[in-house]
Amino acid sequence: MEKTRATSGGAGDGAGVDFHLDLSGPGGVRASLIRALREAVRSGRLAPGSRLPASRTLAADLGLARNTVADAYGELVAEGWLTARQGSGTRVARRAAARAPERRTPPVRTPRRPAYNLRPGTADVSAFPRAAWLAAARRAMAAAPNDAFGHVDEQGRIELRTALAGYLARARGVHADPERIVVCAGFMQGLGLVGRVLRERGIREMGVEEYGLWFHRETLERAGLRCLPMPLDGHGADVSVLEGGKADGRSVLMTPAHQFPTGVPLHPDRRAAVVDWAARTGGTILEDDYDGEFRYDRQPVGCLQGLSPERIVYFGTASKALAPGLRLAWMVLPEHLTGEVLAHKRAGEWSSGALEQLTLAEFITSGAYDRHVRAMRLRYRRRRDRLVEVLAERAPHIKVTGIAAGLHAVLELPPGTEHPTLQAAAWEGLALEGLSRLRCTPPPASVSDGLIVGYGTPPDHAFPGALEALLRVLPPAE
Ligand SMILES: Cc1ncc(COP(=O)(O)O)c(C=O)c1O
Repeated sequence: MEKTRATSGGAGDGAGVDFHLDLSGPGGVRASLIRALREAVRSGRLAPGSRLPASRTLAADLGLARNTVADAYGELVAEGWLTARQGSGTRVARRAAARAPERRTPPVRTPRRPAYNLRPGTADVSAFPRAAWLAAARRAMAAAPNDAFGHVDEQGRIELRTALAGYLARARGVHADPERIVVCAGFMQGLGLVGRVLRERGIREMGVEEYGLWFHRETLERAGLRCLPMPLDGHGADVSVLEGGKADGRSVLMTPAHQFPTGVPLHPDRRAAVVDWAARTGGTILEDDYDGEFRYDRQPVGCLQGLSPERIVYFGTASKALAPGLRLAWMVLPEHLTGEVLAHKRAGEWSSGALEQLTLAEFITSGAYDRHVRAMRLRYRRRRDRLVEVLAERAPHIKVTGIAAGLHAVLELPPGTEHPTLQAAAWEGLALEGLSRLRCTPPPASVSDGLIVGYGTPPDHAFPGALEALLRVLPPAE
């Protein structure tokens, strides 16, 4: 069993508490939970009077049965650590404070451990569809042929590649053939593999969007490619920078459906321009379709790959729609790259487990994937709307952009205020990401100071508290 579990518990008043509960040690889960909660109260980590999450909520966050949590609360009420009153929930008993050990040394002022997380990049993993996944796993296990327990095929299980081909064609407009799909342990693995193959073919430079994840650029650099920043504007990345120099020595990595992090979809003219560029120069486009399913106000923007399957490598991932912990992603490769990518994967890369692949295949073909995406789209949309509403009411001087899709929004900040805002957030116990860390060109860049607010990250009950914390750290109107 996992030894330490972390969750944020919301209080009824909108503030929240953060638990890091060590559930290791002797006895069953119930005994461990009681011990961990008692320790949190004794040490003062749970302040007197603070409200604990409802037993159902804590149980869901920790992956425990509700009765286990309710029992643990009951026991601690009986011992006098907690109080329970109809209508005001379970709270830390006031007198429990007297039991906290005396501090002998003055407290050192250090930033608080994040109680809230609004960093982009993670789905709400507390909403992982455990029951539906388990049901799919059961069906997949019952139907699995014996060879599923043997050595893993580095291309990925055919059941999953077939399910993905159908789903990607229907939902994202991908020109997908199971023979061109390679399953990988996350986008990063696929990016590294394709990067190395391109380098071996003589490609030296990779056009990358001016803003993006630095560890993706590092992956390309480790593969021996030099990253060439492409400026961004309201139409997405401007690929004309690729036209100068030795165009035949170049490829490009893009997020056309929803630029990460600015949120701009690539304009139709720019889509045509990059596809044209690839056709003229023999260049390769790496399309990172990381959250294409989550578009709120209109139909999702289809993928680019359908326009030119022989020049585009399409990447998708389960990290946003399901959970990054699955480490399941896929690429759809042009025919001319498939063999070399597979040879590299065979030569030393690890493969995703066959049973998880079969479960995902079953999850997709049974329709559970579509249902989950639909439910999450609603949940994220509600959160996005709440974020926009709250900012309009209480911080109207902060402009919010990039809200049409995805699990994050960009908050534009007055010049020079990003760094102090991030510092204030650290003191407030709020994990936040600034725009500047995602910029690959030195300033001035096309977008100035800002925050990337990942509204998909916290569990539902911690979201209101996270928003309040965000409002406390935003720079005031001038
Ligand atoms: C821009 C972008 N690309 C790709 C991914 C997927 O990465 P991975 O499949 O390695 O988890 C993410 C994160 O989920 C992302 O933010």
